[in-house]
Amino acid sequence: MTTEPMPSRRRFLRYAAGAASLAVLGGAGAVGFAGGVHPNAAAYGYWRQKEKNGLSDPQYLALCATLAPSPHNTQPWKFGIAGDRIEIFADLSRHLGTADAEFRMMQTAIGSALENIDVAAGRLGYRAEVQDLDADRRFAQDGYCASVRLHRGQVVRDGSFDALFTRQTTRTEYDMSQPVPAALKTALNQRTGDLPGIGLTWFPDGPLVTRLGNVLRGSVRGFLSDDRNRDGMKWFRITPDQWETRRDGIAVFNGDAPLLAKRYVEWFVHEQDLLSAQFKQGEIDTLDRLVSTTPAWGLIYADRATPNQRIQAGRLAERVYLEAAARGYAVQPLCYPTEFEPSREGLRELAGLAPAQDPLFLFRIGKSDYVAKSVRRDLKEVLLA
Ligand SMILES: Cc1cc2nc3c(=O)[nH]c(=O)nc-3n(C[C@H](O)[C@H](O)[C@H](O)COP(=O)(O)O)c2cc1C
Repeated sequence: MTTEPMPSRRRFLRYAAGAASLAVLGGAGAVGFAGGVHPNAAAYGYWRQKEKNGLSDPQYLALCATLAPSPHNTQPWKFGIAGDRIEIFADLSRHLGTADAEFRMMQTAIGSALENIDVAAGRLGYRAEVQDLDADRRFAQDGYCASVRLHRGQVVRDGSFDALFTRQTTRTEYDMSQPVPAALKTALNQRTGDLPGIGLTWFPDGPLVTRLGNVLRGSVRGFLSDDRNRDGMKWFRITPDQWETRRDGIAVFNGDAPLLAKRYVEWFVHEQDLLSAQFKQGEIDTLDRLVSTTPAWGLIYADRATPNQRIQAGRLAERVYLEAAARGYAVQPLCYPTEFEPSREGLRELAGLAPAQDPLFLFRIGKSDYVAKSVRRDLKEVLLA
């Protein structure tokens, strides 16, 4: 008996994978702003919670932190609250394994959560002072990353707090007739001032973007061909129930895949299909489609390859997401070239980085519709007792 899928099933798997893989690398449907697949499911509730609703100030700041992006939606953080101090730890049990062997993406995500605390603290009338950023020494011991002390200050009323709730990873084709304004790029470049050693560079249109596309294609093939893909796919949720119950991971349901493809994934895709050649090819097809529907590309890099620098880079990544969301632009990171070592060199060359500089967060940005929200874990799960 053969385990090889029948041709028609094979074709459909590739098609469904093209949709599903968007969840991993690139996917997307305007299901509704701030909604989820089943909008009232608890897993989406925090996207609407702009009030404390009985939480203490630090608890609410931790809730806002959980709205940050994270690789494969692992939400790899824990928050310890002691008076006016919030300590942020990485939850090492939520590591992506070989897909993030050096913990680069995990540390970047922690930086984004830290940025959310800073933004939400401003709205509550606090100045958040980052203290003891010490992941370089402590991360390997107990996952400690940094702490934040809250000082009474001015209430900040800019658009970034609201953007915490509209920000999302938008895995869709972006509108090529709407370029990203230079003013937005400049505004983002100006947000690096308090992040020493962190930079943001843009890939101008033309031959450089064509070469970037080639680096991306090479990296996705390399990434998909080894254990990294298997470890990453452990976070793929096949059914909406799975996704909304576990409240983590990625799924096809907040992608722009046609309903038929989503249903096919839900009803007919099995775990072993996620590692099939068809699924991989679907992902490669998707990448091609996204590369040709991206009006602008940016890259966040660090001067040194250290955990502390990655946390700082994660803060800038979240600023990109929030500033873009506040101005009605969509963002999607594409981590393959930064996480597949042979491609990192190519990226460095294209971006004009020095050999010691570390490319960390490549993203596409442009105009697009909103997609459905991704799930979030219960706050109780991420607060240290
Ligand atoms: C360091 C990092 C790398 C990421 N890489 C990718 C990626 O390669 N492709 C992608 O579609 N999303 C990527 N994401 C986005 C996450 O999948 C996304 O944040 C998560 O699924 C939660 O969804 P949300 O951002 O819409 O809240 C990345 C996020 C982070 C923080």
